[in-house]
Amino acid sequence: VSDAGALRTWVIAFVALAGALLGAFVGVGCALKANACPFRSSPRQTSTDGATLFLANCAACHGRDAAGMRDAPSLVSGDLAALDPASLAAKIARGKPLAGMPAFRRSLTPEQIDAVARYLVSVRGSP
Ligand code: HEC
Repeated sequence: VSDAGALRTWVIAFVALAGALLGAFVGVGCALKANACPFRSSPRQTSTDGATLFLANCAACHGRDAAGMRDAPSLVSGDLAALDPASLAAKIARGKPLAGMPAFRRSLTPEQIDAVARYLVSVRGSP
């Protein structure tokens, strides 16, 4: 009985200590605004420049010129180039997670999404 009791005490102590350490680690990380903070979906971006935001968030899939790559469609020609900035912004915010297009509602502010949409409208038609 005492052996089992001692074992259980050690297990509980270990779990409590591990939990406290993990909590401290995450807490300090979040307090320092580390990117690894699990309560933040992505690093906070401060730019409000549409071109900068496009390169940082979209170019990897849609191409640096927004002309599309693999599954990601062109944003400067075809149907998507016919949208006004507000509809474009709505699509960017919502995304199509099941089709591989992330929703940016949480990682970018409405102002930033708007800046990207206006940037895309401004580069339409350029080769
Ligand atoms: C991980 C890759 C990826 C990233 C990053 C990405 N997209 Fe997409 N995007 C896609 C794919 C794939 C589609 C096509 C979805 C489909 O099949 O309808 C798409 C579709 C879209 C559409 C059309 C959506 C619709 O409702 O028809 C717009 C507009 C768009 N992307 C803009 C952007 C912008 C602006 C960014 C950056 C803020 C961005 N995307 C970042 C992959 C990506």
